[in-house]
Order: sequence, then structure tokens, then C-alpha cells
Amino acid sequence: MSNPSWSKIDHHLESLFLSPDPTLEANLRESLEAGLPAIQVSALQGKLLQILAASVGAKRILEIGTLGGYSTTWLAKALPAEGKLVTLEFEPLHARTARANLERSGVAEKVEIRVGAALETLRLLVEEKTAPFDFVFIDADKENYAGYLDGALKLSRSGTLIVADNVVREGKILDPEDLDTRVRGIRTFLEKLAAEKRVDATVIQTVGSKGHDGLAIFRVH
Ligand code: SAH
Ligand code: DHB
Ligand code: MG
Repeated sequence: MSNPSWSKIDHHLESLFLSPDPTLEANLRESLEAGLPAIQVSALQGKLLQILAASVGAKRILEIGTLGGYSTTWLAKALPAEGKLVTLEFEPLHARTARANLERSGVAEKVEIRVGAALETLRLLVEEKTAPFDFVFIDADKENYAGYLDGALKLSRSGTLIVADNVVREGKILDPEDLDTRVRGIRTFLEKLAAEKRVDATVIQTVGSKGHDGLAIFRVH
């Protein structure tokens, strides 16, 4: 269920709505060069994240899943001068690549990359009594999404906006028998989110250069 015209349409929309950004293009090139998988959000989705973070006036952003820092860069650019973004990544190579990419984009001083298993880092952030985040982007291993939901809520305040990527996976989430642990992880996450009383939540399906997938978008009461 992929459609070649979705990419063409994305390219057309990009040419209308996005200014060429040499450092973001370099980010994608350098990440590929370093052997990272090209699973970052699309450019138009990156801008959506940026608009959402700016709309809630985010001064503190939490990201779970850094990769080469592509979505990180879009989000960091939504921050005011004194703003801060904390991004969690398991793979040291991804974190190193992201660090170099963030420096090239001029946002490195706003970004702290914490290397380690994100569930553990979230636990540490809670233990450290970190100030609540205004915006959270969940985009790491799908198996742990339900745990990331818990962690994100503990680090939120009333009004925090949370976005989770890859929650439709070409509709594979419809099949309760699917053996893919990622699909199972997302199904569990969606059920937990649907039952979560502390948030107003919706999910929108997305198509484009990244195929058919979806974003969960929810706001803490
Ligand atoms: N947000 C990025 C894409 C993230 S891809 C973007 O759109 O640009 C998912 C990332 O999560 C990968 O870099 C992967 O190494 C990382 N990851 C996987 N399991 C993890 C874990 N348990 N803790 C932290 N990061 C993890
Ligand atoms: C894939 C895509 C993603 O956006 C992600 O965060 C993880 C994996 C994928 O296409 O495999
Ligand atoms: Mg993703």
C-alpha cells in the first residue's frame, strides 16, 4: 500500500512551502554516509512538528529517538533563544552523527543528547525532578511506546502537547494476530492512549514520501 504519486505530491508541496535548507540537506547526506537508516520524518512533517511546538510556545522540548537529529533540528528551531531540547538516543553512532549535524545547523547549544535506553533515561529525568516539558515527540523503538507514554506524562504539565510517530504502519495495526513486535507495540500503545484519562487524543493517518502511516496527537488536560 504505497503510491508513487504520494512522493511526487510531497515534492511539489515542499517546493511550495519549504525554503531550501542546505544544513538540513547536509544532515540527511551525512546521516546516510554514516550508515544510519533513512527513517526520519519527511520535511513537511518536520515543519508540522515545528509549527506545533511553536504554537504551544514551547520552551522545553523532549524528543525520544534522535537518529541523525533531523526532526531534532526542525523542533530546535521552534525554540526561543533560552529554549532547551532534550533528545534521547540509544545508539552512540546516531548520537555522534546527530551532534555534528546539530552543530552545522547552529542549534547544538540548545540541544542535550542523552545516550542510553530511553525508558531508563526517562526514569532518570523523573528522578532528577526535571522541569516539565511543553512539547514531546515520541519516535523511538515501537515496542516501548506504551512505556514512553507513561514517561512522557510524568514529565508533562497541563497543556503539554505530545506527538507520536508511526502509529498506523500501513494499517498493520488492524491485525491483532500480527507477530511483528513493532506492530504489537503500537497496538498496545494505541489502546493505552485511548484509555488514558489525562489527555485529549486523536490520531491522523498520513501519506507522503514516507508511505502510509499516522501521527497520534494528544494534549494533557
Ligand atoms: N526522530 C528521528 C527518527 C528517529 S528513528 C527523526 O525523525 O529524524 C528511531 C531512533 O530511536 C533510532 O535512532 C534508534 O537508534 C533509536 N532507538 C531505538 N531504540 C531505542 C531505545 N530503547 N532508547 C533510545 N533510542 C532508541
Ligand atoms: C521506520 C520509520 C520511522 O519513522 C521510525 O521512527 C522507525 C522505523 C521504518 O520505516 O521502519
Ligand atoms: Mg518515526
